[in-house]
Amino acid sequence: SQNIYILGIESSCDDTAASVMQNGKILSNVVASQKIHEEFGGVVPELASRAHQQNIVPVVNQAIKKANIAKDQLNAIAFTRGPGLMGSLLVGTSFAKSLAMGLNIPLIDVNHMQAHILAHFIDEEGFNKPPFPFLAMTISGGHTQIVKVSNYFEMEVIGETIDDAVGEAYDKSGKILGLGYPAGPEIDKRAQLGNPKAFKFTKPKVAELNFSFSGLKTAILYFIQKEIKANPNFIEENINDICASIQYTIIGILIDKLKLASKQTGIKHIAIGGGVSANSGIRQALKTGEAKFGWTTYVPKFEFTTDNAAMIAIVGYLKYLENNFSQQNVTASARLKI
Ligand code: KG4
Ligand code: ZN
Repeated sequence: SQNIYILGIESSCDDTAASVMQNGKILSNVVASQKIHEEFGGVVPELASRAHQQNIVPVVNQAIKKANIAKDQLNAIAFTRGPGLMGSLLVGTSFAKSLAMGLNIPLIDVNHMQAHILAHFIDEEGFNKPPFPFLAMTISGGHTQIVKVSNYFEMEVIGETIDDAVGEAYDKSGKILGLGYPAGPEIDKRAQLGNPKAFKFTKPKVAELNFSFSGLKTAILYFIQKEIKANPNFIEENINDICASIQYTIIGILIDKLKLASKQTGIKHIAIGGGVSANSGIRQALKTGEAKFGWTTYVPKFEFTTDNAAMIAIVGYLKYLENNFSQQNVTASARLKI
């Protein structure tokens, strides 16, 4: 049978990434993360698009080289159309169009949030693919959604954040605590060394399957300000307990909504995706859910949690099989919906 080679390109935020895939299996997966944003404590859009422009050619070349194929063996170019930062999306979109035109092969546009979910269909040893229908919770620096997935391209958002994303809650809490950016991994590491019940933060009351994280950030800020008045060394002396308590609160919020979503839909197959799905607390809580609620859970391989191009390439492959191609006049879309 014929081999299908897809090049995936991701540039929606601050990672420039390219991946070559053969029939749903990864041949290469290259990511250039932009260090420049660390000193600003968050992504600076203007700097991000400029860095994409510098990185995109070397990253794509490296992905093709590592895959050990010739450019003219590629069957299609898949790229992230949105959602994301417009300036960043434009770099990947324009580049993908030009390359597809130059090689005279089809162009395939990909929704970044669908890709975080469909990353579960990358062919990887030791990883099971979820059966339809399943629930997907996408948790990242930009998004927090619960999606009912009935088929590859039949998805319905049944809950989402009304303000900050869960990754933002981690990063903004980290900023208050004087940790680096992004703070999620650091808070996670420290949380495992602390007491999750040391400090109590109230969970927000949000209707149905929606989330809210901006109140939590404010609660943490006021709490820290008050404690520092009494003890200037409060943060240093309690950092692990503070991190553990923040993580305990956030994971509690996520699991409460997942329980409700599973109950409302009757679906017990649950997948997670996005940067925060690397978190040890959510992984532990899902395991508990398997024992307690009869869930079957799907956690992506670590390299597919944060932004990557393999997830773009797999969507490209699935669309290729359906002859679902884009026109050359397709445009980037910062607020693209699932
Ligand atoms: O998916 P992603 O790489 O980029 C977006 O599309 O946003 O997610 C990045 C987010 C950041 O907010 C980062 O702090 C968070 O994922 N993150 C974590 C962990 N690893 C990354 N949050 C909690 N625990 C982690 N282990
Ligand atoms: Zn993402």
